[in-house]
Amino acid sequence: MMKYAVVTGGSKGLGAKIVRNLLENNVYVISVSRGENEEIAQLKQVNNYQFFRCNLASPTEISNVFEEITKLVFSPETEGIYLVNNAGVIDPIETAGNLNDEAVLRNVQINLTAPIQISNLFLQKAKETNIPLMIANVTSGAGERPVHGWSLYCSTKAGINMFTKTVSLELENHQSPIKIFAYSPGIMDTEMQQKIRSSSEAAFAEIEKFQGYKEKGMLRSPQVVANALVTLMMEKEIENGKVYHVNELL
Ligand SMILES: NC(=O)c1ccc[n+]([C@@H]2O[C@H](COP(=O)([O-])OP(=O)(O)OC[C@H]3O[C@@H](n4cnc5c(N)ncnc54)[C@H](OP(=O)(O)O)[C@@H]3O)[C@@H](O)[C@H]2O)c1
Repeated sequence: MMKYAVVTGGSKGLGAKIVRNLLENNVYVISVSRGENEEIAQLKQVNNYQFFRCNLASPTEISNVFEEITKLVFSPETEGIYLVNNAGVIDPIETAGNLNDEAVLRNVQINLTAPIQISNLFLQKAKETNIPLMIANVTSGAGERPVHGWSLYCSTKAGINMFTKTVSLELENHQSPIKIFAYSPGIMDTEMQQKIRSSSEAAFAEIEKFQGYKEKGMLRSPQVVANALVTLMMEKEIENGKVYHVNELL
């Protein structure tokens, strides 16, 4: 019997640490992103890892690639499946009124539509097969507090929180072993924070505060944040629909 995990955005930052941690826990990991993480690919002894290239900005690529992935993971030998919707983008960092249409659509597609599309497909297959499924949606504190210049990021993260809660409501009294929750990882030292620091004060009023987070060493290591998530998924009783914050798990 095999346990699978499908992790989006597994190439960098938080996602790469989640992938490594799950591999160490003998979970068969499927990592999905545009680029592959070289260090993970080179762990030649790893035979419980596969990489699927997918641009989550493309709904058709998502349908094609995830159809393949579900064929692999929803098999009679599968004991359980973790789906970690982790990939996300901060840009466009820009005040509303100055947003470019293409950038708007791209952000909503990657941060909100993609996890909804993928969750919908996995929920359908889990109900058909009765294989236990756990969905973890990576969100942000920005889904609960407006941040100047981040209207897309705040809206999509608020959206993923509400999607999580709504699916949880629909699962009440449902017999299938399905869990869904959101995970707010706090501020971490990843490329996303580099992008935030390199924006401009006109587009993002809090830029100095975020530059200070880095200078004062306040950004948490994504390793610590990934470990807390994997422990939650593998060892704790999940409260369906909850938005977990990393601080309550450390
Ligand atoms: N860093 C923070 O302080 C912070 C705070 C709160 C919440 N978060 C959330 O935590 C999650 C991980 O963030 P991070 O800081 O680790 O970000 P990151 O270092 O920028 O990594 C983002 C990941 O998403 C993938 N990705 C981006 N665009 C994609 C696309 N079009 N198609 C497929 N994959 C794509 C990237 O892979 P490729 O480039 O290879 O495609 C990469 O693996 C995100 O949901 C983010 O919103 C982060």
